[in-house]
Amino acid sequence: MEERTIQVDLCSMRKEKPKPDQLQFGKVFTDHMFIMDYSDPLGWHDARIVPYQPITVDPSAMIFHYGQSVFEGLKAYLSPEGDAQLFRPEKNMQRLNRSNDRLCIPPIDEEFALQAIKELVTLEKDWIPESEGTSLYIRPFVISTEPYIGVAPSRHYKFIVILSPVGAYYAEGINPVKIAVENHYVRTVKGGTGEAKTGGNYAASLKAQEMVANTGYAQVLWLDGFEKKYIEEVGSMNVFFKINGEVVTPALNGSILEGVTRNSVIQLLKHWNIPVVERRVSMEELYQAKKDGLLEEAFGTGTAAVISPIGQLTWNDEHLFINDGKTGAVAKRLYDTLTGIQYGKLEDPFGWIEKVEEVSRVK
Ligand code: COI
Repeated sequence: MEERTIQVDLCSMRKEKPKPDQLQFGKVFTDHMFIMDYSDPLGWHDARIVPYQPITVDPSAMIFHYGQSVFEGLKAYLSPEGDAQLFRPEKNMQRLNRSNDRLCIPPIDEEFALQAIKELVTLEKDWIPESEGTSLYIRPFVISTEPYIGVAPSRHYKFIVILSPVGAYYAEGINPVKIAVENHYVRTVKGGTGEAKTGGNYAASLKAQEMVANTGYAQVLWLDGFEKKYIEEVGSMNVFFKINGEVVTPALNGSILEGVTRNSVIQLLKHWNIPVVERRVSMEELYQAKKDGLLEEAFGTGTAAVISPIGQLTWNDEHLFINDGKTGAVAKRLYDTLTGIQYGKLEDPFGWIEKVEEVSRVK
């Protein structure tokens, strides 16, 4: 049985907000959060907005042992008229349920989850930062909470939404990042959990990332888990390459996350009549394209990262400098257009923007 009302318990004291020019990614959280429980046979119930606070779960809760969890990431932007707005939030809700399905977590009513997010964002509207390149990051997630250490799908869960005012994801901001191609470790394999947004994929990525972090690389580029030949994704971004006038991105194959920004970029490129193709692309091909002078641009796409130009790719001992380490014209146009739409400064021909209107609250 789905719960349709949201109880609200307001905090007694509001926190101080960070200064806009000091905003980092994901370190500060707002005054309130949304939470809802699941148990058999009640289903999802007890939906509430409460002061941001630690949660109590049993040490034997299954999340701590077998990692049955999923999450999403989207942002609220402030338009020039002062409206809070979301970018294609229904896509995140759909993916949340695809991830839930892969992790044997019961589905969540997508409309209701979106209503909860809108209600929370409305309440925390004055946490949406105003300065350029900043936004309010929305992190919905589900954890398994049944106190049981047998390996099985949990019968209890919590769905929680927290909010964080953020600046750029990478220290480089919108300047090109350095990425190392990972040849040893793999993030996932086909048939694994790669296309689900689950914590385990990110836990699996840490070792490789840590090994390159102190040599100035922002992240690693993952190759396919079987032949370690074909390019997959970066882990916090999908990737695109402009080769001889054509934009190429790895085709979705079950182990690559289906990014909302990835999908939007493909639509924008098609709209501009810039050739774009989703297909397998190997590191060998990229290396050859670079040698032949045909590798024109590389960039990553993601909600957190937006459009992040890649200025250097290191593969084995080869350093591939792309577009002289500068932001390419396509990446720049995509960044300007996408953020222009997201912040309500440009027309939205695709209907991607959803305003967060004041919603009536049941107390
Ligand atoms: C996002 O772009 O929202 C992500 O979820 C990537 C992340 C792990 C920060």
